[in-house]
Amino acid sequence: MPYEISESKRDWYRQVSKRSRLRKQAATRGELGPCRAMPNRPLLRPETLMPERKRSSLTALSLFCGGGGFDLGFERAGFEHLASFDVLDICAATLSSNRPQWAVFSGPEGDVGEVDWSVYANVVDVLHGGPPCQPFSVAGKQSGAADDCDMLPAFTRAVLSVRPKAFVAENVPGLLGRRFSNYVDEAIYSPLSRDYQIVAFRLGAASFGVPQDRQRVFFVGFRSRACARKYVAPAGEHSVQRDMFSRNALTLGARAALGLPDIGFDSCAPTLRSGFTGPRKTTSILNSRASQRLWSDLKIWPNGVQKSRQDALQFPPENGHFRLSVQDCALLQGFPDDWQFAGAVYQVLGQIGNSVCPPVAYAVASSVADALGA
Ligand SMILES: C[S@@+](CC[C@H](N)C(=O)[O-])C[C@H]1O[C@@H](n2cnc3c(N)ncnc32)[C@H](O)[C@@H]1O
Repeated sequence: MPYEISESKRDWYRQVSKRSRLRKQAATRGELGPCRAMPNRPLLRPETLMPERKRSSLTALSLFCGGGGFDLGFERAGFEHLASFDVLDICAATLSSNRPQWAVFSGPEGDVGEVDWSVYANVVDVLHGGPPCQPFSVAGKQSGAADDCDMLPAFTRAVLSVRPKAFVAENVPGLLGRRFSNYVDEAIYSPLSRDYQIVAFRLGAASFGVPQDRQRVFFVGFRSRACARKYVAPAGEHSVQRDMFSRNALTLGARAALGLPDIGFDSCAPTLRSGFTGPRKTTSILNSRASQRLWSDLKIWPNGVQKSRQDALQFPPENGHFRLSVQDCALLQGFPDDWQFAGAVYQVLGQIGNSVCPPVAYAVASSVADALGA
């Protein structure tokens, strides 16, 4: 069900938010008394989940690049990006500050619906992109093609014009549901099946060592039948629970990943909400009512995310739970610590919550590179 709340619950949130504002003012005046001396030191190092592969000669084109989850995964899998596109300037600012040498287009020049792709025709190995998912997300209205943000047709237009050896499209699991099967036929299979052998599969981020319950769907298409036959979708080499028959490494729980003290309970974090979702500029990553309970069991406060670990430390929530910083949220999404996001807190959370978890992107990119023979 979409995350809709009653007026009384909305009122309750307003009260919490007001108390929190007052508490922050008190903290700034130094009235909350002494707080913990040191910020948390995370145990998880996401870069270890995606060991850099030898740079291949494979090229990639990134559509709807956002804050760079897909791009980072493809880069670590050995691809060189020819260009990345997003309509939001803040996303381009993130990519350009991390990779000044990349060609990144934003604003009208980054609008995937408007770009003339002919300059990239036949020179791209893999075109990848995660078109906006609100049309298909359970958190949205699920109106599919009728939604203004439906950019899947723009993605297929780009594939047909660029003619890459392979494409990868990512989206929310809702897209594989029965409700959208006609739409997926019309938007993906009909226009592309003549030239591409397409497979679709669902991946959970926790199977790739990311401490978050996050499911995503991938469509991978190959122009060559031989490559398509060789293709093996990634399965993930991590498990959430210990299993004596499995050799998989264990995915850390959110608390362990963040380096928080043992409280006798840990688990993957719920799906992080994107700060760009909904009309308000939110600094909350709370995605659903059910997730509120899990955050509470984890003793992690999912609202009022701060811009640094130091700021979060200065301003503990009144229930004593751990307050998150944007660096903590990036870590729970699988971004390495050195990937810096541009923008205000809500914009950073927007980029993080919208992204493909880099270790998942890396696994998909590596599987495609293997099939292409790199
Ligand atoms: C789901 S996010 C993609 C995140 C990205 N794949 C990642 O891993 O970080 C969708 C992105 O599409 C962008 N977008 C929406 N409409 C667009 C358009 N017409 N042209 C280019 N980008 C667009 C949004 O700004 C958003 O950053």
